[in-house]
Amino acid sequence: MKQIVILGSTGSIGVSALDVIDSLSESEYSVLAITGNTNTKLFLEQIKIFRPRYAAMFSEASYNEIKGLVPPHTKLLGPGIESLAFLSILPEADLIINGLVGAVGFVPLIAAIKAGKTIALANKEPIVMAGRALVDECRRWNATIIPVDSEPSAVFQSLENVDAKSYFKAEAQIAQVLLTASGGPFLKYNGSLDNVTPSQALAHPRWKMGKKITVDSSTLMNKGFEAIEIMHLFSLPLEKIKIVVHPQSIVHSAVEYQDGSILAELSNPDMRLPIQYAITYPKRLPSPVKRLSIAEMSKLEFFEPDLNKFPCLCLALDAAKKGGTYPAVLNAADEIAVNAFLAGDILFTDIAKLVHSVLKEHTSQDKPISLSAAAQADEWAREKAKAILEAKTYKKAII
Ligand SMILES: NC(=O)c1ccc[n+]([C@@H]2O[C@H](COP(=O)([O-])OP(=O)(O)OC[C@H]3O[C@@H](n4cnc5c(N)ncnc54)[C@H](OP(=O)(O)O)[C@@H]3O)[C@@H](O)[C@H]2O)c1
Repeated sequence: MKQIVILGSTGSIGVSALDVIDSLSESEYSVLAITGNTNTKLFLEQIKIFRPRYAAMFSEASYNEIKGLVPPHTKLLGPGIESLAFLSILPEADLIINGLVGAVGFVPLIAAIKAGKTIALANKEPIVMAGRALVDECRRWNATIIPVDSEPSAVFQSLENVDAKSYFKAEAQIAQVLLTASGGPFLKYNGSLDNVTPSQALAHPRWKMGKKITVDSSTLMNKGFEAIEIMHLFSLPLEKIKIVVHPQSIVHSAVEYQDGSILAELSNPDMRLPIQYAITYPKRLPSPVKRLSIAEMSKLEFFEPDLNKFPCLCLALDAAKKGGTYPAVLNAADEIAVNAFLAGDILFTDIAKLVHSVLKEHTSQDKPISLSAAAQADEWAREKAKAILEAKTYKKAII
């Protein structure tokens, strides 16, 4: 029996993870703990259906709202980060699915790694912040990260004869990784991106995801984050990661080997597939996801991204090249900028401008960086981004 903790069970990844577990054999996979933040209604429903032994609501207000309503089979933990860290190291947990969004996942991820856990990781932001240091900690504590994000999962699945404990050993055989990008909702948009609204940015053509990653996909910042994620998880130099726009989202990424052979993972775009692989790994079990019909695939396109139109991708690749604390600053500034755009406080094109302004003012302290240097840079960048937002008059986005 695999006992599973789901951090962020009320989010897009969390809901899909529960859906996957529901479709698997009850005697082999069970939900040990779940966590939420604000969605109290869904959280209480999940507790009723999956009967986890533990549950934690991060926000204090939400915790107070549900504390008298949780049935006795589930122990409700107090609000805050300590509960997430506690659940990440439960001795009886066989798998920690981290479906949190943003830097809040950093502390629970470190806790899980130090407890030598197997982690199904969707929450890419901590890897962007401090990937190299986190991967080093994994080796030190014999922890395993199985990627959930569809592109790193595709790379993982396309690696030959390499298991989840040793994929960093594959570098010599790999000529390059082809990291595919759908291109987001503005791929073919010809007008000025200044005027696009949050609801346009949230209308992703292929994937239904949480708001933060959907906006990051529309700016292509998400692709830069994934390049950083793949670079660290598989110990590859950035030069070996080639980003290609592939609007059909059928090839989720590929590995080109030294002999010129390319191995790729193809499937319909549905996160339940990489989530299930991370849960059942190394087994492959039947899945409810609609199968790909090769006969119906009339065309698969691949082309270079337009870096002028999507400056966030340039900023991410530049931060990745520079290393040190630049990626942590990139990530934190982006989190502030995306929230400001969603709140209607800045224009879509101000996301890149704000992130750029914060990066310009930063000087990296440490190379290679420690976990604490990444956390400090994260804090510094948030304060800096907020200060710039307050000091400057921005045009408001139309909501
Ligand atoms: N969604 C996808 O298809 C997809 C694909 C690839 C990678 N990812 C990555 O997976 C992660 C999750 O994405 P998502 O789309 O599932 O996000 P989401 O729908 O926004 O869900 C985030 C989850 O984290 C919880 N949460 C948010 N802020 C929190 C905080 N401060 N403290 C504690 N919990 C908090 C939310 O709780 P409430 O909802 O209760 O507030 C929710 O359960 C992201 O890093 C994303 O980049 C997602």
